[in-house]
Amino acid sequence: MLLQTLEIFNENIQLDILREDLRHPFVSGNKWWKLKYNLEEAKRVKASAIATFGGAYSNHLAATAAAGKEQNIKTIGFIRGEEHDSNATLQFCKDQGMELCFLSREEYRNKNISRFSFPDVYIIPEGGSNKLGVQGCAEMLGGVGEKYNYIVCACGTGATMSGLVLSAFPHQKIIGIPVLKGADFLHQEIEKHLFSFQNSNKNWELVLDYHGGGNMGLAFARGLVKSGKFKPEQITLTRRMLRNVEAIQAEGFPATRDNAEAIKGADAIILAVLPQQVNTVLDDIKNTVDVSSQFIISLISGVTSSDIKGYLNAKIPVVIAMPNTAIAIQQSMTCLAATNNDKKYIDISTELFNTVGETVTIDEGQMTAATALCACGVAFFLRSIRAASQGGTEIGFHSHDALKMAVQVARGAAELLHQHNSHPEDEIDKVTSPKGCTIAGLNEMEHQGFSSAMIKGIILANDKAGTLYKK
Ligand SMILES: NC(=O)c1ccc[n+]([C@@H]2O[C@H](COP(=O)([O-])OP(=O)(O)OC[C@H]3O[C@@H](n4cnc5c(N)ncnc54)[C@H](OP(=O)(O)O)[C@@H]3O)[C@@H](O)[C@H]2O)c1
Repeated sequence: MLLQTLEIFNENIQLDILREDLRHPFVSGNKWWKLKYNLEEAKRVKASAIATFGGAYSNHLAATAAAGKEQNIKTIGFIRGEEHDSNATLQFCKDQGMELCFLSREEYRNKNISRFSFPDVYIIPEGGSNKLGVQGCAEMLGGVGEKYNYIVCACGTGATMSGLVLSAFPHQKIIGIPVLKGADFLHQEIEKHLFSFQNSNKNWELVLDYHGGGNMGLAFARGLVKSGKFKPEQITLTRRMLRNVEAIQAEGFPATRDNAEAIKGADAIILAVLPQQVNTVLDDIKNTVDVSSQFIISLISGVTSSDIKGYLNAKIPVVIAMPNTAIAIQQSMTCLAATNNDKKYIDISTELFNTVGETVTIDEGQMTAATALCACGVAFFLRSIRAASQGGTEIGFHSHDALKMAVQVARGAAELLHQHNSHPEDEIDKVTSPKGCTIAGLNEMEHQGFSSAMIKGIILANDKAGTLYKK
């Protein structure tokens, strides 16, 4: 059993991770279990090949290709979209001997493979999510036994979670955290899987609030309260679904589904919905908003202050804010912008956003660039940390130790710049010695295009962000 115990500071709780990622170098995680009985079945029916479906970056395709090679069964991958020769996942599939067939989006949606002729193939659905996949996943907990009260898993198609529910002991509760937003459909999927095993266990729950939650809006509200400058009762939050409203109320915030009612008496109205949702919210508040005493702060990417004023047909002051996901831990880099007379609302907005990180005031025309550098930037630095941890594993550390080391090194490097108010090269000079290993490593990275890759990535993200929200 591949168990890793996490150190947490509560002696009444033991938290272990089942490291399925270490089960097999290429068929790891739940893939191994989802494929187990499907491979057996394909052999039993003497199929000529196994065919399955996935996107161009599908782990399921890669795992099926590797498993097919290991078990000496031909594999066929039906890929959603155009041919992507340069994609490492698809190259891996090809290297394992998988035959790749590309389907248009419509063909893929209908799983229409009639253009291809493969007699006697055994078809595994996308993600390996069928009854045999569930049967395999039911063995995943194996010898873990009765010791755990809660088993928590990520949930993509519902097959893994269904398997875990099938094998759960009566006192255990299985909690699934959907990997995608809007995953209400998983309830039906899991019930369908359980029904096919005549299982009616109710000891499971999907935590859907993890998404939505208003990532940005709720994190901002929590930060304002945590700063001690605001009390929860001063911040009214709105959501569309009653269930979500109640969850927010439980945190002490007044919450409602009524946007028009919510803004009554407010000084600042903060818009933190998705771009496609903003017009509905503006319609809701159009007749209630008081342009003489209220101002709007919009966090919505790609929506300008003149879009908002134009839609409301009102001269309401608008500040545009671009935070990032580190707002959840009060470490956001938030860029703020306003035009003309609205600039007087920048000070109060700065004060508000300083409770959840740092702020910089920019021109509104630079908001797209701020999206690329600060919002997308979180992902760019996270990928650098992942690369460092992968390097660490290759030179001999267990992946969890390598990641821990890389995270703390990155944190230390950022803090050096922050606390010394220095330039990266000043700090780099302190680590590099003549003919030393650091300069050798750095120069090799530069030969491989490290700085250039980061710069080009930021430029491309900027170009792309500029086109995403064109009306
Ligand atoms: N993620 C980033 O790095 C980042 C950075 C800067 C800016 N932003 C921007 O921040 C905005 C919010 O992003 P997010 O990640 O927080 O999105 P999110 O998690 O989907 O939050 C949107 C919230 O709006 C609520 N909502 C939608 N329609 C509503 C309506 N008519 N009335 C009341 N509430 C409504 C949703 O709740 P219900 O579904 O329950 O109604 C949800 O809580 C986006 O425009 C995004 O572009 C994001």
